[in-house]
Amino acid sequence: MSLSACGIDFGTSNSTVAIRDAGDAHAHLLPLEDGKHTLPSAVFFNLDEDSLSFGRAALAEYLEGYDGRLMRAMKSLLGSGLMDAGTEVGGRHLSFRNLIGCFIGEVKKRAEREAQRNFDAVVVGRPVRFVDDDSEADQLAQDTLQQIVAGLGFREVSFQFEPLAAAHAYEQGISREELVLVVDIGGGTSDFSLIRLSPERRGQADRSSDLLGNSGVHVGGTDFDKRLSLAGVMPELGMGSLLKNGASFPNSVFFLLATWHTINQVYARKFWRSFLDIAPSVADSRRFDRLLSVVNKHAGHQLAMQVEAAKIELSAVPQAVLALDEAEEGLRIALSRSDFEAAIDSEVARVCASAQQCLDQAGVSADKLDTLFFTGGGSAVPALREALARQFPAARAVEGDLEGAVGCGLAVVARQRYA
Ligand SMILES: Nc1ncnc2c1ncn2[C@@H]1O[C@H](COP(=O)(O)OP(=O)(O)OP(=O)(O)O)[C@@H](O)[C@H]1O
Ligand SMILES: [Mg+2]
Repeated sequence: MSLSACGIDFGTSNSTVAIRDAGDAHAHLLPLEDGKHTLPSAVFFNLDEDSLSFGRAALAEYLEGYDGRLMRAMKSLLGSGLMDAGTEVGGRHLSFRNLIGCFIGEVKKRAEREAQRNFDAVVVGRPVRFVDDDSEADQLAQDTLQQIVAGLGFREVSFQFEPLAAAHAYEQGISREELVLVVDIGGGTSDFSLIRLSPERRGQADRSSDLLGNSGVHVGGTDFDKRLSLAGVMPELGMGSLLKNGASFPNSVFFLLATWHTINQVYARKFWRSFLDIAPSVADSRRFDRLLSVVNKHAGHQLAMQVEAAKIELSAVPQAVLALDEAEEGLRIALSRSDFEAAIDSEVARVCASAQQCLDQAGVSADKLDTLFFTGGGSAVPALREALARQFPAARAVEGDLEGAVGCGLAVVARQRYA
């Protein structure tokens, strides 16, 4: 029986939905917000208006200063050990399962409205590793996502590795056989598939003999944000400073503030109490006041957004300046590309090691590779591109649709599986 099917790419930073109908030469993304094909994976609980918003609208309402709670990088909660916890929104407990269900449910609703039909079946993308080095926790993350998505009314829910989905999208447009390493650097994870693609075999159901390997590591653009924040911004809020007695100011608050999916924890009352306790011992009161100001104004996400914007700017220019008036009126922090690159050095090395692992598993040497196919927003970071180009000098680099390749590939797979 043929089911109405779609592909959903629930991303750490951005989500997309794509379909491929009978007779369509290619899969295509559905507009999800004001004609745009991505919906930033963000939810804002607006307590002033008692309303809920999603995507860019959620980010805008938060930045407009409404009282409420912004949630981002929700996918990072899957498999994190925080999954069974939740958060408090307006005095009520919100489980993270319900939160993720609420967001993906909205994605489904918008896609169905756009496609003018209900979807019975879905192929959902998943990173090759939700959790590094722990298969049990990794499986649990997929099971949790499966339950959440099934609870939204789909009759069929299945998964596909995100880089493999992107490979299917790339294969739609090639004209001869290529050995391709798909490089998908997302917000939360970096994922690789090594696959032989060819115009003759596209569309065949069983491609297991062409798929030579998958690998992935829990490093992505949100980790680059975190490293940049810890290296260049948090020290200005007192990280690394000493107390009057020579002891170090506790670090944990800075790590929570620099990590997208833990920012809200800093607004807990226990933190505020600990700040009051420590205040008399603080030696650098100017920086401490900046920290208090950010926490008091619930400006943690705003800060993270500015750091992210600076990171993106540094892909194009050597210097970026952050305006941190929320911390202290007039505070400006200059960040340089070289400092950023030094801060993400070990992350880049881990991504490159994961890429190498993909080839090693398959026993394929680097000189056999024809193509590096880049997708995912994080693949725009020049240091990462350059490191991978050095590692695989024989391969030509192809830049895919950085936003849409995974979603479109999931729709190709959904059509094969369900239509
Ligand atoms: N020009 C750029 N330079 C550097 N980073 C960028 C650029 N553009 C986007 N990014 C980063 O790319 C990341 C988002 O990429 P993408 O939308 O592919 O992730 P995702 O699919 O949501 O995440 P995942 O696949 O890991 O779940 C963000 O961290 C964003 O800051
Ligand atoms: Mg992605």
